[in-house]
Amino acid sequence: MNTHTSPSHGTVRSEIRDRIAILTIDNPPVNAGSHAIRKGLIEALQAAGDLRGAILIGAGRSFIAGSDLREFGAPLAWPELPDVISACEEAPFPVVAAIHGVALGGGLELALGCDYRIATEDARLGLPEVSLGMVPGAGGTQRLPRLTGRIAAVEMVCGSTRITGTRAASLGLVDALAEGDLLDAALTFLAQDRPKRVVAQMTVPDEDPAALQAACDKALKKGRGRPNVAEAIRLVQASADADVAAVLADERAVFQRLRLEPDASALRHLFFAERRAGSVDGLDAKPRALASVGVIGGGTMGQGIARACLGAGLPVTLVERDAAALDRSLSALCDALDARHARGRLGDAALAAQKAALRGATDVADLTGCDLVIEAVFEELSVKVPLLEQLDRLLPENVVIGTNTSYLDINAMVADLPGRSRILGLHFFSPADVMKLLEVVRAEATADDVLVTGLALAKRLGKQPVVARVAEGFIGNRIYAAYRRRAELLMLDGAAPQDVDAAAQAFGFAMGPFAVSDMSGLDIAWAMRKRQAATRDPKARYVTIPDRLCEAGRLGRKTGAGWYDYPETRPSPVVDAVIANARADAGITPQPFDAATIQRQLLIAMVNEAALLLAEGVAQRPSDIDVTLANGYGFPRWKGGPLWWAAQEDPAAIAADLDQLEQAIGHGFARGPVAETLAALKD
Ligand code: NAI
Repeated sequence: MNTHTSPSHGTVRSEIRDRIAILTIDNPPVNAGSHAIRKGLIEALQAAGDLRGAILIGAGRSFIAGSDLREFGAPLAWPELPDVISACEEAPFPVVAAIHGVALGGGLELALGCDYRIATEDARLGLPEVSLGMVPGAGGTQRLPRLTGRIAAVEMVCGSTRITGTRAASLGLVDALAEGDLLDAALTFLAQDRPKRVVAQMTVPDEDPAALQAACDKALKKGRGRPNVAEAIRLVQASADADVAAVLADERAVFQRLRLEPDASALRHLFFAERRAGSVDGLDAKPRALASVGVIGGGTMGQGIARACLGAGLPVTLVERDAAALDRSLSALCDALDARHARGRLGDAALAAQKAALRGATDVADLTGCDLVIEAVFEELSVKVPLLEQLDRLLPENVVIGTNTSYLDINAMVADLPGRSRILGLHFFSPADVMKLLEVVRAEATADDVLVTGLALAKRLGKQPVVARVAEGFIGNRIYAAYRRRAELLMLDGAAPQDVDAAAQAFGFAMGPFAVSDMSGLDIAWAMRKRQAATRDPKARYVTIPDRLCEAGRLGRKTGAGWYDYPETRPSPVVDAVIANARADAGITPQPFDAATIQRQLLIAMVNEAALLLAEGVAQRPSDIDVTLANGYGFPRWKGGPLWWAAQEDPAAIAADLDQLEQAIGHGFARGPVAETLAALKD
């Protein structure tokens, strides 16, 4: 056996069996396609001699999980991936990619550069470059459409979707599925004297032009018109009608340009930040068993949490207050599952399995067999505290208890409970089966293995965890509150709600703060302001406008009126009058704010609050803040999160923004250690 290795990560092992070269890619843990792997492959292919074929296969749990992103911020060293693919294409024998685990990005492009692909049914194949601000750069946009047609290629490239081996076979992307041992299957496949078949020389299948255009339009819209999405569409389109060598060169040039642009750097930052956010530095505990879940409270959140668990194959027992409430919850839950089924998002078997895995109960004693119990009852201490006390008394010691509270002080809630070490916060976002973010709240008494069980739950549910300490609003809601407060003060001082919303949207937020507030209902924040009224500092600036709107019954979309009039979403003369009165009462002469100032003030309010809560230890690390905002609050991913954004700006401009924020907030303003926080982000 020959081994080709080089000083950087990874090795390619080469073994000849019956005139077939088996090239095993070995770069633990995920076989990332590093420089050493590329070099090893070229050397092995060129040294191969007189062969009947070659098989590329991954050691360990995957083929190749993608290129090593750490190499993407700097010039790439020879050989680059297209050089390896050329070596596959120029080899005088057929090359087969044998795919298990994942083949992503450059990994899949390498497989596309082989003559044939064979995969396990559960392998996962995808081109995630677009979600990283780039386009595939080693022929993905050209070879994929030759195998699948352009419609499927546009969907897969622009949506950065991962498909199974089975689906890939049905699309023509893989030539055979391996039953049993993958290497044996590849050897058998090659034993049938396969001819050389270079994918880049194949013709792109004809498809209905209208259907292709519709797929492109949909992908552009879903990709929010980002330049890299438009480029990806253009390149896939060109695969049918231009010289393949020219488009491959074009694709490579676009990739080389985009990978160094700010969008790609920001998205790479989030990529690494998201992986780090699911871990706690210095913690070495094993999660507890997680095979069944109890959910208490079948309202908006309880139903969503139950759907998320069922979707991940976890059986759920849902507990409500009484039989009537339970009936309502269970039937709403089943209706939601039926609706998913009707939209084609859930197959027949999955629908039946999820319904069979759902049980209802009206007594928490029925939860003793669960591994994890999550409460999602009313946000009232008088309801939550007795319930937690009852759970701690009734449930066996091994059962982990999670509370989905949004704002309540978990430390105080559990202080008197003997089993408080098995309690943690699990703060889901609405709708809980859709939203990616899960704040895993580490209360003072939470045991390490309980905390990591929360992180394991997030992984099982396909959620993005972020670890928070107990604080009003934890990480996300606390930062969002600072952002919303700044939006309201900008309005009081002269900006119209629609100007603030338009500026936020122009920055890339899915919606502006006032439109969001109309969507979720103005009454939630109103109830909180009423609760806080007695303890509010009378010298702090207070915006009365939302209170007046609530008093007038303008609670948002659900009442047909809020910051805007509905259903057409129009600015409202009633709101204008309320704003004018509030300004007059406060003696304010409205001043104009341009979009750039509005954006920077909204962002700096977030950044300042983030610096404060990091200093308090509520969040573990600056990058966790970016992960929170990008996954739970519609912050544009291609800007990397508020702290990444600020770290790219001129420090003097950021300091000036902070001064302006301080002036606007006035009495009670707390200035966070912003410069230190931004410096720490770069570590
Ligand atoms: P909801 O009012 O829709 O549902 C609460 C449910 O709990 C009701 O169905 C009620 O019958 C049930 N319930 C009350 N006491 C119970 C008891 N002792 N035993 C069994 N069931 C009981 O409220 P929602 O919106 O689902 O909120 C639940 C929790 O989730 C709250 O703590 C809230 O702060 C939190 N949360 C809410 C979010 C939202 O967007 N709605 C987001 C994140 C957290």
